[in-house]
Amino acid sequence: MVGLTPDGMAPVEVHGLVKRYGRVTALRELSFKVSSGEIYGLLGPNGAGKTTTLKILVGLLSPQRGSVYIMGYDVVRRADALKHVGYIPENPVLFRNLTVREFLEMIGALRDIDREELADSIERYLEMFRIRDKENEPASSLSRGMIQKVLASAAFIVRPRVLIMDEPMAGMDPESQHVFKEEVRRMAREGVAVLLSSHLLDMVERFCTRVGIISEGRMIAEGSIDELRKLAGEDRSLEEVFLKLVVGSGQGAGAR
Ligand SMILES: Nc1ncnc2c1ncn2[C@@H]1O[C@H](COP(=O)(O)OP(=O)(O)OP(=O)(O)O)[C@@H](O)[C@H]1O
Ligand SMILES: [Mg+2]
Repeated sequence: MVGLTPDGMAPVEVHGLVKRYGRVTALRELSFKVSSGEIYGLLGPNGAGKTTTLKILVGLLSPQRGSVYIMGYDVVRRADALKHVGYIPENPVLFRNLTVREFLEMIGALRDIDREELADSIERYLEMFRIRDKENEPASSLSRGMIQKVLASAAFIVRPRVLIMDEPMAGMDPESQHVFKEEVRRMAREGVAVLLSSHLLDMVERFCTRVGIISEGRMIAEGSIDELRKLAGEDRSLEEVFLKLVVGSGQGAGAR
């Protein structure tokens, strides 16, 4: 079947995740899948559990219950899953004393990317994101938007089959956002499964092929933009759908 791994699983599968931080329950039986070629937008108010979900997907956190699979590998048990993933974390982390180029070269080397191919793709993204003039600057000197572009480049150069990105466009100027979206679309057309969290509903509405809205750690609505609009009544914008589902019906008491 199109969009599935050879063993019949979607590239991203999340099953019944429960995550507690002490007495705070962040995820309550959260489940969803992202197929190859999809651009899936994870939406939800502050504290809904988006970052927690994405961190579990890249093995940075363990859930109390449930399981996550990347390209058919159980992430909690098999670190191999992560060799397929490009990840942009919520809080920008760069090695402050490495230059932009050194950082990208290190990421490529750690992921065993062919040297020539790596050199080419580093050139490509330095050019595309207009950060060539910063290639020899230390990461500590970069603006927020520039850091975000370096992190996007790092996620793209590793030839990912799955892209997991937490608020990837935070701080990017309009031209960079455009370049970023075009590149992600190109990768999705080539079969990459894309999962991103965002608060930019206008962008999500035009960019994502499917959306999941979570609130208090539960999926309260999921579908294509058109399906979600129908759920909330015709001719609604995604913003109106979001407000109606998350605020209007009471948090957690949703359409699903
Ligand atoms: N390290 C932590 N320790 C304790 N509680 C945490 C921790 N990280 C997250 N939480 C709690 O878990 C819940 C989900 O947080 P999470 O960061 O996943 O939300 P989010 O959807 O990413 O929010 P935002 O839109 O603000 O980024 C919140 O109640 C948050 O306070
Ligand atoms: Mg978050």
